[in-house]
Amino acid sequence: MMKAVLLKQEGDAAQLYIGEYPTPVAGAGEVLVLVHATALNRADILQRQGHYPPPPGVSPVLGLEVAGVVEALGPGVTRWKTGDKVMALLAGGAYAEYAVVHQDLAMPMPEGWTFEQAACIPEAFLTAWQALQLLAQTQPGEKVLIHAGASGVGVAAIQVATRLLGASCMATASAAKLPLCQKLGAERLVDYRSEDFATAVSEWTAQQGANVIVDFIGAPYWRKNLDSLAMDGRMVILAMMGGAVPDYTTPLGAILRKRLHIMGSTLRNRSLEYKAELVRSFWQHAEAAFHAGHLEAVIDRVFDWTEVAQAHTLMESNANQGKIVLMC
Ligand SMILES: NC(=O)c1ccc[n+]([C@@H]2O[C@H](COP(=O)([O-])OP(=O)(O)OC[C@H]3O[C@@H](n4cnc5c(N)ncnc54)[C@H](OP(=O)(O)O)[C@@H]3O)[C@@H](O)[C@H]2O)c1
Repeated sequence: MMKAVLLKQEGDAAQLYIGEYPTPVAGAGEVLVLVHATALNRADILQRQGHYPPPPGVSPVLGLEVAGVVEALGPGVTRWKTGDKVMALLAGGAYAEYAVVHQDLAMPMPEGWTFEQAACIPEAFLTAWQALQLLAQTQPGEKVLIHAGASGVGVAAIQVATRLLGASCMATASAAKLPLCQKLGAERLVDYRSEDFATAVSEWTAQQGANVIVDFIGAPYWRKNLDSLAMDGRMVILAMMGGAVPDYTTPLGAILRKRLHIMGSTLRNRSLEYKAELVRSFWQHAEAAFHAGHLEAVIDRVFDWTEVAQAHTLMESNANQGKIVLMC
């Protein structure tokens, strides 16, 4: 048995506690990782509340990313040896002493990085890479609008857009978080509570519109997002934090005339093959940038995992800028 964060029942953060849970066993192609750190994702809150159950066959323990040390190898593992420091993407099970990870979903921890830093990378950066590169095919010099710019995924997306893909970036966030977005590379900043982002996009792009939008807000932004896209613009919808049903009947002509690509995406329930290719592609493009210090982990706060309820409460308050880390 190992220690893991468990739930008394689905509900609020007070339901979280550390208890005993069977230690997972590495199957074919998997490694067992001694978890040093994990980072929170909004999905963890939804799962805790009972709104986002784990896919079939996946650990019911919360947690989508880890940084730790390879402790044991399952049959057929060729890429890792015991003692390797890795950061990895999981579909569940990261809030625990030990987690099982497929060998193709792990990346080596960048030299000199701490476990806290490394735990911030997998879910956020792979989501950003998937949206901006794989789906939107962002090109150098294009203009990218990133909503929720100081969220865990947002801080990764600003870096991917500007530092890996050579795009220009505009970010929306609440006012106190805009300096962080600027530091990460956003050149146009919008406090969405006091400024209309569609007007700002129009000014920023000399009325041409943004080539790419990464949206997490959904319904309240739907119309303005459509208005803000350029000809052949691409939008990737990753979440609906502001609502799921737009209060607006969409004239399809806007989509047709501007030849828009409107995409939705998820990561957790993708196939192993898809995620393995995403990790391979991201690492191929990002490894040198990590080693050169061009990509950074943005940590809002580090908690001991005994304080997991406080960590969840912080995320639910929308106060974090970047990632919230749990040390296991
Ligand atoms: N589809 C996928 O593949 C995928 C993968 C990973 C994450 N996600 C989703 O992406 C979203 C961000 O996740 P995260 O873990 O990075 O979140 P996070 O760090 O908790 O950040 C969320 C931030 O979004 C802003 N926000 C919340 N509600 C808003 C609203 N109604 N209008 C405007 N801004 C709002 C808040 O910042 P402000 O102070 O700026 O308002 C909040 O702090 C979540 O919904 C998550 O489920 C999707």
